[in-house]
Amino acid sequence: MKKLYKCLWILLGFLLIEEMAHGQKENVALWGKTNQSSIYEGFYSGLAIDGLLTSWTHTNPETNPWWRVDLLKVYRVNRVTITNRPTFDYRLNGAVIRIGNFLDIYSNTICGVISTLEAGDTATFSCGGMVGRYMVVHIPGDQKILSIVEAGVYGYLAGNRAIGGATIQSSTSQNWFAEKAVDGNRGLQQLYTGCSSTLNEADPWWRLDLHDVYRVNKVVVTNRNDCCAEQINGAEIRIGNSLENNGINNPICAVIPAIPPGESYSYSCDGLDGRYVIIHVPGDQKILALCEVEVYGYLAGTCLKRSFVKLLFHSSKDLTDSTMRENVLKQLGSALADRGITDVTLKWSQTPKQEVMRKVNDKRRCDTRQ
Ligand SMILES: *[C@@H]1O[C@H](CO)[C@@H](O)[C@H](O)[C@H]1NC(C)=O
Repeated sequence: MKKLYKCLWILLGFLLIEEMAHGQKENVALWGKTNQSSIYEGFYSGLAIDGLLTSWTHTNPETNPWWRVDLLKVYRVNRVTITNRPTFDYRLNGAVIRIGNFLDIYSNTICGVISTLEAGDTATFSCGGMVGRYMVVHIPGDQKILSIVEAGVYGYLAGNRAIGGATIQSSTSQNWFAEKAVDGNRGLQQLYTGCSSTLNEADPWWRLDLHDVYRVNKVVVTNRNDCCAEQINGAEIRIGNSLENNGINNPICAVIPAIPPGESYSYSCDGLDGRYVIIHVPGDQKILALCEVEVYGYLAGTCLKRSFVKLLFHSSKDLTDSTMRENVLKQLGSALADRGITDVTLKWSQTPKQEVMRKVNDKRRCDTRQ
């Protein structure tokens, strides 16, 4: 009763995992800025991220009290922890935990709800990689008090590096401030308030300071939806480290021919390095309006980690076929994505070796004797 099994030893190389050091073990809320709907007798919002179990936040009794941490960058959040008070433990009952990019609480996605929590206990909520800059806890209802001992947020930095960057533009039309192009909102929901715009002038420009030098792979620009979509035509995307001529002398990543109203178009910059991203419309009598600018890339020079992973597959697929090999990489990629790990590039470092082997007693092992 000897059965032949195909066992494949596969050497999988260049599993690039970015910024694992900034990973799940660290409570990223500790670096954030907090706020809450009201402050009862000095129990301010920062007490939920002071690392102490002996202090807590406290709002006034009110309708829909909330507490929020701004993580200052966008994270893919895997879990949130909330620690309850030793006394008056019912004050977290019914609290809703949300993750997202919106200052409007209810636009963010629900990660969990606390029905009840024992005094002094810590509850952990799995958010499965929800993406957001804010973690909000709120209690729906009247005459509610929200009181939190500690709040933790664990996850990885997510794609868009523009969030949290500093913005400036050549001039500003009404309240179309420069930072609205990096508010994490492509502007489609808040048509007239979610976008930046300069005045009508010669050579308008908008500039983002990423604070660090990034190797930029792509820039995604969302055009205005209300009118005048053609204003973006001919805009140049520039990336570099120079502030000369307001940054306009930096190398060009792309020139935008046109973007339909309200659409987001992606421009590949193929690894241009820079701290500044500039968008500039050359010419007289121009207006530069941007509903969102997203920047994707890696911290230059530092953060690419390479790991070689050796895998043993039981497979009947023919991995000498390159399409099959690509399929296996895709499957691995989506398995990692399910675990919230998306900033990875998978490549074969060498063609898998295939050995046809005989099954031995232990089902999980293969014998190398033919
Ligand atoms: C904090 O929240 C209060 C209440 O909504 C608001 O008035 C205040 O401007 C907020 N502060 C900051 C720094 O966002």
